[in-house]
Amino acid sequence: MSHQPVILVTGASSGIGEAVARLFAREGYRVSMGARRLERLQALADEIESAGGQSIAVQSDLTRFEDIQRLISETLDQFGQIDVLLNNAGFGRIKWLEELDPMEDIQAQLQINLITTILVAREVLPHMIQRRSGHIINMGSMGGLVATPTYTIYSASKFGVRGFTEALRREVSVYDVHVSGIYPGAVNTEFKQHAGIDRKTGRTTPGSLRLEPEEVARGVLSVVRRPRRELIIPWQMRLTVWMNILFPGIVDRIIENRFTRLERDI
Ligand SMILES: NC(=O)c1ccc[n+]([C@@H]2O[C@H](COP(=O)([O-])OP(=O)(O)OC[C@H]3O[C@@H](n4cnc5c(N)ncnc54)[C@H](OP(=O)(O)O)[C@@H]3O)[C@@H](O)[C@H]2O)c1
Repeated sequence: MSHQPVILVTGASSGIGEAVARLFAREGYRVSMGARRLERLQALADEIESAGGQSIAVQSDLTRFEDIQRLISETLDQFGQIDVLLNNAGFGRIKWLEELDPMEDIQAQLQINLITTILVAREVLPHMIQRRSGHIINMGSMGGLVATPTYTIYSASKFGVRGFTEALRREVSVYDVHVSGIYPGAVNTEFKQHAGIDRKTGRTTPGSLRLEPEEVARGVLSVVRRPRRELIIPWQMRLTVWMNILFPGIVDRIIENRFTRLERDI
């Protein structure tokens, strides 16, 4: 039996998940990875192995419950335990609600971002409760704390992730199982390629506030080392969160005048 801890990362084939898998492998974790693109997962697994680490790549479409169950059972068969779960797989389709396709954009986004997050946690939980240890970390977003136009469904999914995270933490802390939420601002990953963002104003998050996936990965590691309810990065985004809580009417007006009217050309 190995004493090396095990992390299970969903959506490890690119972006934040890939950076987390790489960082945790370097920190001595055995890494189990799930996503649809097997070649990408396998290349990362090979990289981890050749650096002396241990990992498995499990091709899985995590919108399918059988694939979720297989990812977890293969992880437990191979490594015997799961110490950390990073529930990270997801995507955003960032458009006006009336432009979103009911199935491809709306259902699919809620399915992977919210339902999959819930189901993966549910499948891993009995194992963690039995061991009286473990840490479930769910990938939220600034979109899960502050809702903005064109992010309706993404925000619905990530507010959902936050609600789920908060309630679950209070269900399982008595078993010494930690539950945390990570809420990053904009991160330079393939997210943008899938989002279909089309801005007349060209406005996006200023470069100085954009994160690299490695910075988010370091955030995840810090939450594992010192368990916290949540991590909002970059820290400047906390100001936006508080502004939105304290002065929602002002935020409504700023967004309407500086964004929605310009983008909708009204
Ligand atoms: N980038 C940002 O600005 C940002 C900000 C805040 C939060 N986030 C969140 O961070 C998480 C990771 O996103 P990212 O920015 O790293 O984007 P990314 O580079 O596009 O990575 C998304 C990952 O999710 C996986 N995935 C998507 N659908 C899947 C499915 N049906 N089954 C299995 N895996 C699936 C993808 O793998 P395959 O395509 O190979 O399946 C990929 O590994 C998401 O939850 C996202 O909402 C991103």
